[in-house]
Amino acid sequence: MPKNLLTLDQLSLDEVNDLLSKAQYYRDGGFVPNLQGKIACNLFFESSTRTQYSFQVAEERLGMRVISFDPEVSSLNKQETFYDTVKAFDSFGVDALVIRHKQNEYYKELEGKIDAAILNGGDGTGNHPTQSLLDLLTIKQEFGRFEGLKVAIIGDVTHSRVAHTNYDIMRKLGMEVVVSGPDFYMDKGYVTENFEKAITTSDVVMLLRIQFERDATLGDMTKEQYHERYGLNAHNVSKLKDNAIIMHPAPVNRGYEISDEVMECDKSRIFKQMQNGVYVRMAALARSLDID
Ligand code: CP
Repeated sequence: MPKNLLTLDQLSLDEVNDLLSKAQYYRDGGFVPNLQGKIACNLFFESSTRTQYSFQVAEERLGMRVISFDPEVSSLNKQETFYDTVKAFDSFGVDALVIRHKQNEYYKELEGKIDAAILNGGDGTGNHPTQSLLDLLTIKQEFGRFEGLKVAIIGDVTHSRVAHTNYDIMRKLGMEVVVSGPDFYMDKGYVTENFEKAITTSDVVMLLRIQFERDATLGDMTKEQYHERYGLNAHNVSKLKDNAIIMHPAPVNRGYEISDEVMECDKSRIFKQMQNGVYVRMAALARSLDID
């Protein structure tokens, strides 16, 4: 039976750790199952570089055939609904549907109606399960554990499905998680910390992009003021703990949350996160198609 991956809440911590172990096994050159004959369809109704194309690389490494969907030239232009579009691909008999959509919990209207496995590539400001898995894998590779680590998530938290997914799963895994940034980007109920304390006391400093496409603003700050107050640059990166790492889900707004010289500095794991994304997505696809 195909298994959906819609949120990390649906998984036990053992299942999360199993996915991370499988991703690391693939990364280390372990046996990769051959899913020749299986078809994946990547239905991205919202823009993506990393998630869409690293899913495609993962699918191809598993031997799957891949259909990439372009909403601009689809029958969405003839007022076909989201549901009918997904149902059409399911009717073609594809095995896995990777879906991204701007609507939070878009998957609720699909549950129980679709035979293919659905893997959530991001829903609005809600969930981004495979991004969190690749973030966790990157942290595990660095520190060998989760328990007792401190993570600061800094920036536009309120619009970030990455922040929302990570805040919950990281706390469940025994990490201390704080958020930091302008008040108008903070979510109610989250533990907040001032920027200086957050960057100087955390093992993982995770920056977030300001999501201008979701109508985020800088308030009364200029770009330069935002960067000085809440961004990492060559000056303040020296204040991080010796073994601290810098992460960012990307895409990055260079000059806002991060400067050019920090993007690929020794502490940055930003491109390593992208490498890990392929292995995590291979593991997620193998789980969803019940192949080990
Ligand atoms: N991190 C992430 O989801 O990037 P994309 O929007 O490019 O997929």
